[in-house]
Amino acid sequence: MAFDSNDMMYVTLSNGVKMPQLGYGVYQVGAEECERCVTDALEVGYRHIDTAQSYFNEEQVGAAIAASGVDRDDVFLTTKVWLEHYGEGATRASVEDSLRKLQTEYIDLVLLHQPFGDAFGAWRDLVRLYEEGKVRAIGISNFYVDRMVEFCEFNEVKPMVNQMERHPLNQNTELMEWEKKYGVVPEAWAPFGEGRGDLFENEVLAQIGAAHGKSTAQVMLRWNLQRGVVVIPKSVHRERMEQNLDVFDFSLSDEEMAQIALLDTETSSFFSHADPKMIQWFAQIVEERKTNHDHRKDKKNW
Ligand SMILES: NC(=O)c1ccc[n+]([C@@H]2O[C@H](COP(=O)([O-])OP(=O)(O)OC[C@H]3O[C@@H](n4cnc5c(N)ncnc54)[C@H](OP(=O)(O)O)[C@@H]3O)[C@@H](O)[C@H]2O)c1
Repeated sequence: MAFDSNDMMYVTLSNGVKMPQLGYGVYQVGAEECERCVTDALEVGYRHIDTAQSYFNEEQVGAAIAASGVDRDDVFLTTKVWLEHYGEGATRASVEDSLRKLQTEYIDLVLLHQPFGDAFGAWRDLVRLYEEGKVRAIGISNFYVDRMVEFCEFNEVKPMVNQMERHPLNQNTELMEWEKKYGVVPEAWAPFGEGRGDLFENEVLAQIGAAHGKSTAQVMLRWNLQRGVVVIPKSVHRERMEQNLDVFDFSLSDEEMAQIALLDTETSSFFSHADPKMIQWFAQIVEERKTNHDHRKDKKNW
Protein backbone atom coordinates (compact mmCIF):
# COMPACT_ATOMS: atom_id res chain seq x y z
CA MET A 1 0.00 0.00 0.00
CA ALA A 2 1.31 3.44 -0.82
CA PHE A 3 0.51 5.43 2.26
CA ASP A 4 0.27 9.18 2.01
CA SER A 5 1.44 10.54 5.35
CA ASN A 6 -0.82 13.56 4.79
CA ASP A 7 -3.69 11.21 5.58
CA MET A 8 -2.48 10.79 9.16
CA MET A 9 -4.45 12.43 11.96
CA TYR A 10 -2.49 14.16 14.74
CA VAL A 11 -3.13 15.27 18.30
CA THR A 12 -1.34 18.20 19.88
CA LEU A 13 -0.11 17.61 23.43
CA SER A 14 -0.43 20.28 26.14
CA ASN A 15 3.17 21.41 25.48
CA GLY A 16 2.54 21.84 21.72
CA VAL A 17 4.23 18.59 20.61
CA LYS A 18 2.42 16.95 17.67
CA MET A 19 1.77 13.21 17.96
CA PRO A 20 0.50 10.95 15.14
CA GLN A 21 -2.84 9.64 16.39
CA LEU A 22 -2.14 6.14 15.06
CA GLY A 23 1.02 4.23 15.85
CA TYR A 24 2.44 0.73 15.95
CA GLY A 25 2.78 -1.15 19.27
CA VAL A 26 5.40 -3.84 19.91
CA TYR A 27 4.22 -5.49 23.13
CA GLN A 28 4.57 -9.28 22.78
CA VAL A 29 6.63 -8.86 19.61
CA GLY A 30 9.59 -11.11 20.40
CA ALA A 31 13.12 -9.74 20.09
CA GLU A 32 13.74 -12.25 17.26
CA GLU A 33 11.14 -10.70 14.96
CA CYS A 34 10.83 -7.16 16.30
CA GLU A 35 13.38 -5.60 13.95
CA ARG A 36 11.62 -7.12 10.92
CA CYS A 37 8.21 -5.99 12.24
CA VAL A 38 9.27 -2.38 12.88
CA THR A 39 10.99 -2.30 9.48
CA ASP A 40 7.72 -3.45 7.88
CA ALA A 41 5.71 -0.95 9.91
CA LEU A 42 7.91 1.96 8.81
CA GLU A 43 7.80 0.75 5.19
CA VAL A 44 4.01 0.62 5.12
CA GLY A 45 3.83 4.12 6.57
CA TYR A 46 3.73 4.09 10.39
CA ARG A 47 5.58 7.04 11.89
CA HIS A 48 4.85 6.33 15.54
CA ILE A 49 6.27 3.35 17.44
CA ASP A 50 5.30 2.35 21.00
CA THR A 51 7.74 0.21 23.00
CA ALA A 52 8.66 -0.16 26.69
CA GLN A 53 11.61 -1.15 28.84
CA SER A 54 9.61 -4.20 29.94
CA TYR A 55 9.07 -5.45 26.36
CA PHE A 56 12.81 -6.19 26.04
CA ASN A 57 12.86 -5.12 22.41
CA GLU A 58 14.06 -1.50 22.56
CA GLU A 59 17.35 -2.50 20.85
CA GLN A 60 15.49 -4.05 17.93
CA VAL A 61 13.21 -1.01 17.62
CA GLY A 62 16.27 1.27 17.61
CA ALA A 63 18.07 -0.87 15.03
CA ALA A 64 15.05 -0.90 12.70
CA ILE A 65 14.61 2.88 12.87
CA ALA A 66 18.34 3.49 12.34
CA ALA A 67 18.42 1.22 9.25
CA SER A 68 15.12 2.42 7.80
CA GLY A 69 16.32 5.54 6.03
CA VAL A 70 13.43 7.43 7.65
CA ASP A 71 14.58 10.63 9.36
CA ARG A 72 14.62 10.20 13.12
CA ASP A 73 12.67 13.49 13.38
CA ASP A 74 9.86 11.96 11.32
CA VAL A 75 9.27 9.11 13.78
CA PHE A 76 7.39 9.62 17.05
CA LEU A 77 8.97 7.20 19.51
CA THR A 78 7.51 6.20 22.88
CA THR A 79 8.99 4.08 25.63
CA LYS A 80 7.89 3.38 29.19
CA VAL A 81 9.77 3.15 32.47
CA TRP A 82 9.28 -0.14 34.29
CA LEU A 83 8.60 -0.34 38.04
CA GLU A 84 12.02 -1.45 39.28
CA HIS A 85 13.44 1.71 37.71
CA TYR A 86 11.14 4.01 39.67
CA GLY A 87 12.69 6.61 41.96
CA GLU A 88 15.02 9.59 41.63
CA GLY A 89 18.29 8.59 40.02
CA ALA A 90 17.10 5.12 38.99
CA THR A 91 14.57 6.50 36.52
CA ARG A 92 17.11 8.83 34.93
CA ALA A 93 19.62 5.98 34.58
CA SER A 94 16.98 3.75 32.99
CA VAL A 95 15.94 6.40 30.45
CA GLU A 96 19.60 6.97 29.58
CA ASP A 97 19.84 3.21 29.00
CA SER A 98 16.71 3.35 26.80
CA LEU A 99 18.28 6.20 24.79
CA ARG A 100 21.33 4.00 24.15
CA LYS A 101 19.26 0.96 23.22
CA LEU A 102 17.01 3.00 20.95
CA GLN A 103 20.09 4.62 19.29
CA THR A 104 18.64 8.08 19.65
CA GLU A 105 19.51 11.47 21.15
CA TYR A 106 15.94 12.02 22.36
CA ILE A 107 12.70 10.13 22.98
CA ASP A 108 9.42 11.73 21.94
CA LEU A 109 7.35 10.40 24.82
CA VAL A 110 8.31 8.58 28.02
CA LEU A 111 5.53 7.13 30.17
CA LEU A 112 5.49 5.76 33.69
CA HIS A 113 4.24 2.27 32.84
CA GLN A 114 2.36 1.56 36.08
CA PRO A 115 0.82 3.65 38.88
CA PHE A 116 2.64 1.90 41.73
CA GLY A 117 5.79 2.33 43.86
CA ASP A 118 7.76 5.56 43.82
CA ALA A 119 5.96 7.05 40.83
CA PHE A 120 6.39 10.58 42.22
CA GLY A 121 10.16 10.19 42.48
CA ALA A 122 10.24 8.71 38.98
CA TRP A 123 8.19 11.67 37.73
CA ARG A 124 10.70 14.17 39.15
CA ASP A 125 13.41 12.50 37.05
CA LEU A 126 11.20 12.54 33.94
CA VAL A 127 10.49 16.24 34.46
CA ARG A 128 14.25 16.95 34.60
CA LEU A 129 14.89 14.88 31.45
CA TYR A 130 12.05 16.77 29.76
CA GLU A 131 13.49 20.14 30.79
CA GLU A 132 16.91 19.04 29.46
CA GLY A 133 15.35 18.15 26.09
CA LYS A 134 16.22 14.45 26.22
CA VAL A 135 12.51 13.69 26.24
CA ARG A 136 10.00 15.79 24.28
CA ALA A 137 6.90 14.80 26.31
CA ILE A 138 6.12 12.82 29.46
CA GLY A 139 3.08 10.92 30.61
CA ILE A 140 1.59 8.03 32.54
CA SER A 141 -0.02 4.68 31.85
CA ASN A 142 -2.61 2.60 33.69
CA PHE A 143 -3.48 5.46 36.03
CA TYR A 144 -7.16 5.05 36.84
CA VAL A 145 -9.20 8.14 37.54
CA ASP A 146 -8.33 8.53 41.26
CA ARG A 147 -4.61 8.04 40.74
CA MET A 148 -4.57 10.26 37.66
CA VAL A 149 -6.33 13.12 39.47
CA GLU A 150 -3.96 12.74 42.44
CA PHE A 151 -0.95 12.77 40.10
CA CYS A 152 -2.19 15.86 38.27
CA GLU A 153 -3.07 17.72 41.47
CA PHE A 154 0.17 16.97 43.31
CA ASN A 155 2.64 17.56 40.48
CA GLU A 156 3.48 20.92 38.98
CA VAL A 157 4.19 19.46 35.51
CA LYS A 158 1.09 17.52 34.49
CA PRO A 159 1.27 14.32 32.46
CA MET A 160 0.64 14.97 28.77
CA VAL A 161 -0.71 11.51 27.95
CA ASN A 162 -2.42 8.64 29.82
CA GLN A 163 -2.09 5.28 28.04
CA MET A 164 -4.91 2.97 29.15
CA GLU A 165 -6.85 -0.06 28.01
CA ARG A 166 -9.53 1.43 25.72
CA HIS A 167 -11.58 -0.66 23.28
CA PRO A 168 -15.31 -1.10 22.66
CA LEU A 169 -15.78 -3.46 25.64
CA ASN A 170 -13.88 -1.17 28.07
CA GLN A 171 -14.23 2.43 26.93
CA ASN A 172 -13.10 4.39 30.01
CA THR A 173 -15.46 7.24 29.18
CA GLU A 174 -15.58 8.80 32.66
CA LEU A 175 -11.78 8.86 32.78
CA MET A 176 -11.76 10.83 29.51
CA GLU A 177 -13.79 13.62 31.10
CA TRP A 178 -11.15 13.98 33.83
CA GLU A 179 -8.28 13.73 31.36
CA LYS A 180 -9.82 16.63 29.45
CA LYS A 181 -9.93 18.79 32.60
CA TYR A 182 -6.17 18.33 33.07
CA GLY A 183 -5.19 18.53 29.39
CA VAL A 184 -4.10 14.87 29.37
CA VAL A 185 -4.38 13.21 25.93
CA PRO A 186 -6.05 9.78 26.09
CA GLU A 187 -4.15 6.92 24.44
CA ALA A 188 -5.45 3.36 23.95
CA TRP A 189 -3.46 0.24 24.60
CA ALA A 190 -5.04 -2.97 23.26
CA PRO A 191 -7.36 -1.04 20.92
CA PHE A 192 -8.71 -4.48 19.86
CA GLY A 193 -8.68 -5.82 23.41
CA GLU A 194 -6.26 -8.34 21.86
CA GLY A 195 -9.39 -9.94 20.39
CA ARG A 196 -10.75 -10.96 23.81
CA GLY A 197 -14.53 -11.13 24.17
CA ASP A 198 -14.64 -12.11 20.45
CA LEU A 199 -14.21 -8.45 19.51
CA PHE A 200 -13.02 -9.23 15.97
CA GLU A 201 -16.26 -11.22 15.42
CA ASN A 202 -18.57 -8.72 17.16
CA GLU A 203 -21.81 -8.40 15.17
CA VAL A 204 -22.38 -4.70 15.78
CA LEU A 205 -18.84 -3.90 14.63
CA ALA A 206 -19.16 -6.29 11.67
CA GLN A 207 -22.40 -4.64 10.49
CA ILE A 208 -20.94 -1.18 10.75
CA GLY A 209 -17.82 -2.39 8.94
CA ALA A 210 -19.87 -3.94 6.13
CA ALA A 211 -21.60 -0.60 5.55
CA HIS A 212 -18.20 1.02 4.93
CA GLY A 213 -16.38 -1.90 3.30
CA LYS A 214 -14.10 -2.11 6.37
CA SER A 215 -13.09 -4.82 8.87
CA THR A 216 -14.10 -4.92 12.54
CA ALA A 217 -10.47 -4.01 13.35
CA GLN A 218 -10.70 -0.88 11.22
CA VAL A 219 -14.03 0.10 12.81
CA MET A 220 -12.51 -0.24 16.30
CA LEU A 221 -9.58 2.00 15.38
CA ARG A 222 -11.75 4.58 13.64
CA TRP A 223 -14.11 4.74 16.64
CA ASN A 224 -11.24 5.57 19.02
CA LEU A 225 -9.73 8.07 16.56
CA GLN A 226 -13.05 9.89 16.32
CA ARG A 227 -13.25 10.02 20.13
CA GLY A 228 -9.90 11.81 20.12
CA VAL A 229 -7.97 8.77 21.40
CA VAL A 230 -4.48 7.85 20.18
CA VAL A 231 -4.29 4.17 19.06
CA ILE A 232 -1.27 1.84 18.80
CA PRO A 233 -2.47 -1.48 17.32
CA LYS A 234 -0.01 -4.38 17.22
CA SER A 235 0.35 -6.98 14.49
CA VAL A 236 3.28 -9.07 13.35
CA HIS A 237 1.62 -9.45 9.93
CA ARG A 238 2.45 -6.87 7.27
CA GLU A 239 -0.97 -7.08 5.60
CA ARG A 240 -2.66 -6.39 8.95
CA MET A 241 -0.29 -3.50 9.59
CA GLU A 242 -1.49 -2.05 6.27
CA GLN A 243 -5.11 -2.73 7.08
CA ASN A 244 -4.80 -1.08 10.49
CA LEU A 245 -3.33 2.03 8.90
CA ASP A 246 -6.04 2.24 6.26
CA VAL A 247 -8.61 4.04 8.43
CA PHE A 248 -8.47 7.62 7.19
CA ASP A 249 -10.77 7.33 4.18
CA PHE A 250 -14.07 6.77 6.00
CA SER A 251 -15.88 8.05 9.05
CA LEU A 252 -18.47 6.70 11.44
CA SER A 253 -21.78 8.52 11.80
CA ASP A 254 -23.03 9.78 15.17
CA GLU A 255 -25.46 6.88 15.18
CA GLU A 256 -22.68 4.33 14.59
CA MET A 257 -20.58 5.93 17.34
CA ALA A 258 -23.62 5.66 19.65
CA GLN A 259 -24.11 1.97 18.75
CA ILE A 260 -20.49 1.24 19.69
CA ALA A 261 -20.87 3.22 22.92
CA LEU A 262 -23.52 0.68 23.94
CA LEU A 263 -20.99 -2.19 23.80
CA ASP A 264 -19.18 -0.85 26.89
CA THR A 265 -19.04 -3.31 29.80
CA GLU A 266 -16.97 -0.88 31.92
CA THR A 267 -14.80 -3.86 32.84
CA SER A 268 -11.24 -4.67 31.89
CA SER A 269 -10.75 -7.57 29.49
CA PHE A 270 -7.47 -8.25 31.32
CA PHE A 271 -7.33 -7.32 35.02
CA SER A 272 -7.99 -4.35 37.26
CA HIS A 273 -5.05 -2.23 38.38
CA ALA A 274 -7.10 -1.55 41.51
CA ASP A 275 -7.20 -5.27 42.44
CA PRO A 276 -5.08 -5.67 45.62
CA LYS A 277 -3.93 -9.13 44.50
CA MET A 278 -2.62 -7.71 41.22
CA ILE A 279 -0.78 -4.95 43.08
CA GLN A 280 0.85 -7.67 45.21
CA TRP A 281 1.74 -9.50 41.99
CA PHE A 282 3.46 -6.41 40.54
CA ALA A 283 5.41 -5.96 43.78
CA GLN A 284 6.46 -9.61 43.63
CA ILE A 285 7.70 -9.26 40.04
CA VAL A 286 9.87 -6.31 41.04
CA GLU A 287 11.27 -8.30 43.96
CA GLU A 288 11.96 -11.35 41.78
CA ARG A 289 13.75 -9.30 39.15
CA LYS A 290 16.06 -7.94 41.82
CA THR A 291 17.17 -11.53 42.42
CA ASN A 292 17.96 -12.19 38.75
CA HIS A 293 14.73 -13.94 37.94
CA ASP A 294 14.40 -14.52 34.17
CA HIS A 295 11.85 -11.76 33.52
CA ARG A 296 11.31 -12.77 29.89
CA LYS A 297 9.31 -15.74 31.14
CA ASP A 298 6.68 -13.50 32.78
CA LYS A 299 3.54 -14.20 30.83
CA LYS A 300 1.09 -11.79 32.43
CA ASN A 301 -0.10 -8.68 30.66
CA TRP A 302 0.93 -5.25 31.74
N1 LIG B 1 0.75 0.51 28.75
C1 LIG B 1 0.41 -0.74 28.90
O1 LIG B 1 0.29 -1.25 30.02
C2 LIG B 1 0.16 -1.58 27.69
C3 LIG B 1 -0.46 -2.84 27.80
C4 LIG B 1 -0.71 -3.57 26.64
C5 LIG B 1 -0.33 -3.05 25.41
N2 LIG B 1 0.29 -1.83 25.32
C6 LIG B 1 0.66 -1.23 24.00
O2 LIG B 1 -0.49 -1.27 23.15
C7 LIG B 1 -0.16 -1.99 21.96
C8 LIG B 1 -1.38 -2.71 21.41
O3 LIG B 1 -1.95 -3.56 22.37
P1 LIG B 1 -1.86 -5.15 22.31
O4 LIG B 1 -0.70 -5.51 21.48
O5 LIG B 1 -1.89 -5.66 23.69
O6 LIG B 1 -3.22 -5.61 21.63
P2 LIG B 1 -4.12 -5.22 20.37
O7 LIG B 1 -3.40 -4.27 19.47
O8 LIG B 1 -5.46 -4.86 20.87
O9 LIG B 1 -4.28 -6.63 19.66
C9 LIG B 1 -3.22 -7.30 19.06
C10 LIG B 1 -3.77 -8.64 18.55
O10 LIG B 1 -4.68 -8.42 17.47
C11 LIG B 1 -4.25 -9.14 16.32
N3 LIG B 1 -4.53 -8.25 15.16
C12 LIG B 1 -3.92 -7.09 14.85
N4 LIG B 1 -4.49 -6.53 13.77
C13 LIG B 1 -5.47 -7.36 13.36
C14 LIG B 1 -6.41 -7.30 12.31
N5 LIG B 1 -6.45 -6.28 11.45
N6 LIG B 1 -7.28 -8.34 12.19
C15 LIG B 1 -7.26 -9.38 13.06
N7 LIG B 1 -6.40 -9.49 14.08
C16 LIG B 1 -5.51 -8.47 14.24
C17 LIG B 1 -2.78 -9.39 16.53
O11 LIG B 1 -2.39 -10.58 15.90
P3 LIG B 1 -1.06 -10.71 14.96
O12 LIG B 1 0.06 -9.99 15.65
O13 LIG B 1 -0.86 -12.19 14.89
O14 LIG B 1 -1.43 -10.10 13.65
C18 LIG B 1 -2.70 -9.56 18.05
O15 LIG B 1 -3.08 -10.87 18.41
C19 LIG B 1 0.95 -2.93 22.42
O16 LIG B 1 1.67 -3.51 21.37
C20 LIG B 1 1.76 -2.01 23.30
O17 LIG B 1 2.58 -1.16 22.52
C21 LIG B 1 0.53 -1.09 26.43
